[in-house]
Amino acid sequence: MSDATEPTLENLLHENRSFPPSAEFAAQANVDAGEYDRAAADRLGFWAEQARELLDWQTPFTTVLDDSAAPRYGWFPDGRLNAAHNAVDRHVAAGNGDRVAILWEGEDGESRRITYAELADDVARAANALTSLGVGTGDRVAIYLPMVPEAIVALLACARIGAPHSVVFGGFSADALHSRIIDAEAKAVITADGGYRRGSASPLKPAVDAALAKGGTAVEHVLVVQRTGGEVEWVEGRDVWWHDVVPQASTEHEPVWVDAEHPLFILYTSGTTGKPKGIFHTTGGYLTQTAYTHRAVFDLKPETDVYWCTADIGWITGHSYVVYGPLVNGATQVVYEGTPDTPHKGRWWEIVQKYGVTILYTAPTAIRTCMKWGEDIPAKFDLSSLRVLGSVGEPINPEAWMWYRRVIGGDTAPIVDTWWQTETGAIMISPLPGVTAAKPGSAQVPLPGIVAKVLDDAGQPVGPGQGGYLALTEPWPSMLRGIWGDEKRFAQTYWSRFPGTYFAGDGAKYDEDGDVWLLGRVDDVMNVSGHRLSTTEIESALVSHPWVAEAAVVGASDETTGQAVVAFVILRGGDEVTDLPEDGEAVVQTLRGHVGQAIGPIAKPRSILVVNELPKTRSGKIMRRLLRDVAENREVGDVTTLADSGVMSLIQQGLKKD
Ligand code: WTA
Repeated sequence: MSDATEPTLENLLHENRSFPPSAEFAAQANVDAGEYDRAAADRLGFWAEQARELLDWQTPFTTVLDDSAAPRYGWFPDGRLNAAHNAVDRHVAAGNGDRVAILWEGEDGESRRITYAELADDVARAANALTSLGVGTGDRVAIYLPMVPEAIVALLACARIGAPHSVVFGGFSADALHSRIIDAEAKAVITADGGYRRGSASPLKPAVDAALAKGGTAVEHVLVVQRTGGEVEWVEGRDVWWHDVVPQASTEHEPVWVDAEHPLFILYTSGTTGKPKGIFHTTGGYLTQTAYTHRAVFDLKPETDVYWCTADIGWITGHSYVVYGPLVNGATQVVYEGTPDTPHKGRWWEIVQKYGVTILYTAPTAIRTCMKWGEDIPAKFDLSSLRVLGSVGEPINPEAWMWYRRVIGGDTAPIVDTWWQTETGAIMISPLPGVTAAKPGSAQVPLPGIVAKVLDDAGQPVGPGQGGYLALTEPWPSMLRGIWGDEKRFAQTYWSRFPGTYFAGDGAKYDEDGDVWLLGRVDDVMNVSGHRLSTTEIESALVSHPWVAEAAVVGASDETTGQAVVAFVILRGGDEVTDLPEDGEAVVQTLRGHVGQAIGPIAKPRSILVVNELPKTRSGKIMRRLLRDVAENREVGDVTTLADSGVMSLIQQGLKKD
C-alpha cells in the first residue's frame, strides 16, 4: 500500500445540511424505505426476485449464488439468457416497439431518433454481419468508436452472438489500443473513420491501422462506420465498411442463448502497476444489478422519463448506464456525441431543454467546469423538466453539489451521488431519491442487497466518525468475475488485503450518522476528471523516452479535474543523449506529447518538473506524499523516513531557480 491516504474533502463530518425528498417525490418513487429491510432479510432471495422480474430468461435459474470457487463467484449459474434480447427485442415483443430508445444528438447538429423496433432490426442486422465476418460465440471484438448510435448497436450485436466486447475509449492512443487488442486476443475491431469533437472531425481509423501494423494480433477484420466522411487508408480483405454489410443483412436473427456466467465484456482499467487490467463481467448478474440500480437509483419511469447519462461508452458508466441498464429497463435516452462547450458553453442545457430531459447523470468534473463558466449560461435554458440528478466518478465537493442542486435542479431535484467502480459493474453506494435525506458530498448508504463496510488496518469495521478502507464484504450480482487471463492478479489485487473480502482501493469514513464519505484512492491510482489513471503507467511511459532516467508521478488536487497529473523527472546525463534541447519548455512539451502517444491525451501531465533527485525511502520506494506536497504548494511533510533527508530541500531549491 502506498502512502497516499489523505482526505480530499476538508469539511468532512461537518456537513449538516440535509435534503429529504419532497412528499410528492417520495409518494411516486419506485422504491420505498422498506426495500432495505426486505433485502437484508433475504439477500439472495431479493436478488433472485430482481433477476426474475427485470429480465427474460430462456432457461430459468434454480441456483442464485455459487460460491464454491470464491472469489470467482457465480450468479444464477444454471440460467440461460441473452443480453441483447433483454435490452431490445423483449420491449418490441411487449408492444413497446414504437417507444424511442435513443435520441441521438451529433455534435455537428445532426440528430437521429431510433425506436426500440428500429434498434432491434439494427442489432439483428449487425449480428448477422458479424457472423458473416467469421465472428463466433466466445470470440472477442474490440470496439473503438465515437458516441454514435452504431456504438450501441455494435455492443448489442456482440452480445447477441455471445462475443464478448472490449471497448477501448476513443481517446486512447494506437499503442494503448494495440496492447488491449493483444491482451484480449480480439478477432475483429469495430471502428469509425472518425467522430466530431470540439467542432471538428477527429480521425479514429488511423489509430486502428497503426495498432494493427504493430503486429501480433489475431484481428481478421475491421468493420468501419462512416461518420465524418474523411479520407481513410484501406486494407483490402481486412477492412469492411459498415454500410456495405450491415444495412443489407437480414433482420432475422436468433439470439445465442448463453449461460448466465458467459462473459459479456472485458473493459480495461488502470491498476497500480503499469499494465491495465482487463476487468471482465458476465451476463445474468451484471444485467440484473445494472437494471435494478438504474430503476431504483434514478427512479426511472420508462413510459415518461427522458434519461441522459453523459458518459462515453468507453468507460464503465457508458456500459452500465448508457447501454445495458437503461435499455434493459426500456428507457428513452439522449446520447450526445460531442463536448459540452461546442458550439457554445450552453450546449448541454440546450439539449436538456430540447428533449425535456428528466434524469441527468454526469460527473463532478463536468459540474465544476460549468460552475466555472457561470450560472448565467444554464439560466438561459428551461431546465424545469429535470427531476433527478446523478453524480459519479469521484467525490463531489459539497459546494459543487449545492450548485448542481440549485442551478441545475431548480432547488428541488434530488441528487444521487453514486459510488461504484469498473469492477463492481453497477452502483453500490448511493442515496435513494425517494427515501434518503441527501447530504451534500456523501454517497451515504449501501443500496438494498449490498453490504459495504469501512474497515481499519486489521480488517475490523470502524465505528461512526471513523475512517479506514472501503470493503465489500458480501458478493454482489454485477461483481467482476476476474482479470482477463490473470487469475492470480485478480486474487491478489482485490481479495488479499482482507482475505475473503473485496478491497475497493478507496479510503472512506463514517460520519456520526453512519453515512459513508468517500475519501479518494489509497493506492497509486489517480482520478483525473473522473477517469482512472495509474501513476505507474504514466511513469513507465515517461521512462520509455530516451531522455528520461527516472520519473515519479503524483495526482495533485485540481479545482476542475479533481486531480491533475504532475510528473517529476530526472533526465539522463552523459553522452548517450545528444539531442536534448537546451530549452526546458521544449523538453517538457516533448515529454507530454510522448505520454499522449503512449497512453492517450487524457494521461498527459498538467506539469512536468525536471529535478535532480527523487525522495526515496531506504527501501527505495518513492515517497509520493512529499512530491504531492510540492505539487500542491504545501509545506513538505515528515521527511524522517527518507534515505537522504536533504533531497526535498534540493528539489525545492531547484524548482525555485527555474
Ligand atoms: C471513484 C467509475 C467518490 C472511486 C464508475 C472509485 C467515486 C473509482 C465515486 C472507480 C463517487 C467513483 N464518490 N468516488 N460517487 N464514483 N469514484 O472504475 O475512487 O472508472 O474507486 O468507475 O472512482 O472508477 P471507475
